[in-house]
Parts: sequence; C-alpha cells; structure tokens
Amino acid sequence: MKYISRIALGLTIAGTVFAATAQTPKPPASRVERGHYLVRVAGCNDCHTPNYGPSNGKVDESLWLTGDALGWQGPWGTTYATNLRLLLAGMSEQQWVSHARTMEPRPPMPWFNVRAMTDADLKAIYAFTRSLGPTGASAPAYVPPNAKAEGPVVRFP
Ligand code: HEC
Repeated sequence: MKYISRIALGLTIAGTVFAATAQTPKPPASRVERGHYLVRVAGCNDCHTPNYGPSNGKVDESLWLTGDALGWQGPWGTTYATNLRLLLAGMSEQQWVSHARTMEPRPPMPWFNVRAMTDADLKAIYAFTRSLGPTGASAPAYVPPNAKAEGPVVRFP
C-alpha cells in the first residue's frame, strides 16, 4: 500500500513537472537570436527603447523595449510607446500572435508593418522580448487631443 502511494506520488510529481515544462517550453536559441535581429532592424527600438535614436543605438539591451515617456503628438492626441517587456510578459505566444494581427494602435505606431510579419517572425520577437524579462515602468497613459500632455513631445502637424 505504502509502495503504491509512493508510485502515485512519484507520478504526480513527474506529471506536474512535465505539465509545467510543457506550458513554458524554452524557445530554441536560434529563435531568440532571430527576434533580437528583427527588433533591431524592424525599428521597434526606435520608439520603444528610451534614447535609442539620439544615442545611435547605444542603449544597453537590458533597457530595450521598456517603453518611453517621449510623447508623439498629432491630431490623434499624444501617444507613448508601450513597454513591450511588460505587455508581452502578460501574454501567451498565441495571444501575442493574434494581438499583433488585429491591433490598430494610434500613430505613429506602424502596426501594419507588424501585421505583415510571418508567424515565425512574430514568435521570434515574442521569444526575444520574453527572454529579456519584464522590467521598467508602464509608459504614460494616452492623452486625448486638446488635453495637455506632460513632458517632452514630438509634434506632428
Ligand atoms: C515610430 C514609432 C514606433 C515604432 C517604430 C514602433 N512602435 Fe510600437 N508603438 C508606438 C506607440 C507610440 C505606441 C502606442 C500607441 C497608442 O497608444 O495607441 C505603440 C504601441 C505598440 C504596441 C501596443 C499596441 C496595443 O494596443 O496593445 C505594440 C505591441 C507595439 N507597439 C509593437 C511594436 C513592434 C513589434 C515594433 C517593431 C516592429 C514597433 N512597435 C515599432 C510607436 C512605435
């Protein structure tokens, strides 16, 4: 009896470990590497990483995609590039792929470029961003047109 319950316990533990591993499988290193490449060349850092452009891209990777408090102001109001490290931490890979395919955030976010990506590329961006881990604060909240935005803004006509 004791023996059987030990086997049962063993199976339960093995099952739990298996289930946990199955839920969050580690992506292959090549996928993370591809995501790193895409985030760099597809321009995500340009807006989603603070000081990326002005420093000629010399921002430590630990700060990549942490969002920015620089406002983008135009007829749509004032928008702030989202902290993608926090956003993706709260999504499964599948949720991210469908979000990327359906989202239509305000300008100047080029969501149409993201929508044009292959599933493999979207998953690579997900894998890379998740590999960096969630960090930083949320970007300031969207400010509607004619309301006053705090802090520096880039003004569109
Ligand atoms: C020109 C600046 C700019 C570039 C380049 C850019 N973004 Fe954005 N992004 C923004 C801004 C600003 C917002 C917030 C828009 C809003 O508040 O409606 C945003 C929002 C987002 C969101 C959140 C949308 C939502 O509603 O949940 C995602 C996801 C995102 N960007 C992904 C990306 C990815 C991936 C790339 C690279 C391929 C990228 N962005 C490149 C400016 C940019």
